[in-house]
Amino acid sequence: MRIAFLGKGGAGKTTTSAGFVRYLAAKKSHVLAIDADVNAHLRGALHLPNLVGHPHELGDVKDDIIAYLKGDRQDLGDMPMVGTTPPSAKSRFITLSQKDPLIAKYAQTAGNVTLLTVGTYKESDVGGACYHVKLTGLQAFFHHLLDGQDDYVVADTTAGTDNVATSLSFAYDMNVFVVEPTKKSTQVYLDYIEVAPHLKDRTYVIANKVDTPEDEMFIIKTVGHDRLLGAVPQSKHLKRFEQGKREALADFMAEQAVVFDKVYDTWMSKKRDWNDYLARLRETHSKVCRDWLDEYFGQKLDQNLDDAFTYQTAIEQIEKNKDLTRV
Ligand SMILES: Nc1ncnc2c1ncn2[C@@H]1O[C@H](COP(=O)(O)OP(=O)(O)OP(=O)(O)O)[C@@H](O)[C@H]1O
Ligand SMILES: [Mg+2]
Repeated sequence: MRIAFLGKGGAGKTTTSAGFVRYLAAKKSHVLAIDADVNAHLRGALHLPNLVGHPHELGDVKDDIIAYLKGDRQDLGDMPMVGTTPPSAKSRFITLSQKDPLIAKYAQTAGNVTLLTVGTYKESDVGGACYHVKLTGLQAFFHHLLDGQDDYVVADTTAGTDNVATSLSFAYDMNVFVVEPTKKSTQVYLDYIEVAPHLKDRTYVIANKVDTPEDEMFIIKTVGHDRLLGAVPQSKHLKRFEQGKREALADFMAEQAVVFDKVYDTWMSKKRDWNDYLARLRETHSKVCRDWLDEYFGQKLDQNLDDAFTYQTAIEQIEKNKDLTRV
């Protein structure tokens, strides 16, 4: 299961993503944390002193990720595989384990938290790079990830409504907007829902930096009672923690915990419909092909793809392989 934290710049996406990762990890669960923001701060916010592994940036290794996931597929012929290319039965897939070859290669790990980072701009990107290109590897990653109900993936994302313009918009089972009690902050959620009404059912709000009941009422009135999962106070404990008082973190976590219980229960009530996911991926891929990919590559990139593929068969195959290795 996958969850993304979104919102206006500075609203508290990274603080909330890191808090939710800690909350899940404290349940003794294995968590994959993904920093999908160009302002990559999740690693710092997680405060994991014993991270093992090289800090790869997925934006730098996107071609390697795609080559790996392409596996043995023949249906592409000489066509390039891109971030939105739907998988085939011959693709390689990812399972949520620290032993998965792709995760083991690119992630850093500390205890039961695994971290993947898309990465930020380099000097060589100045003047010509677009973050969506860096997100290509992450898009392919999600479209080949066979995660189940007990697998936890938490993503910190770019500020604003940017996610809606990529195939990541439907990659998460739940989107949570972190919203401050201001018009500018709630507007980001409203703009998102306006352009993507089909995502409203899976999109919720956390009120953050709330000082008074009026603050919370302002958010309820703006986004609707049914969308608000709870409110986190403007925390003096977090400030103390950021001033270097380590023990203040536990107090801040306690302030977040009530809201996270609600986030967790709502998230777990979602069931992914893999057929719907595949239909959206195919539709999105064809749209991107029509919009620019076909012209850019001089080929029709959505032709002759493996129409018989279903995620269900890929999941069954993985289960079968697991049984064989157990025997
Ligand atoms: N509940 C809270 N109480 C007090 N301060 C908070 C709270 N949540 C976040 N902050 C503070 O607000 C600032 C911005 O938080 P954070 O970096 O998490 O936002 P962001 O949405 O990830 O920002 P960006 O758009 O730059 O990625 C930080 O200084 C953080 O400590
Ligand atoms: Mg951030």
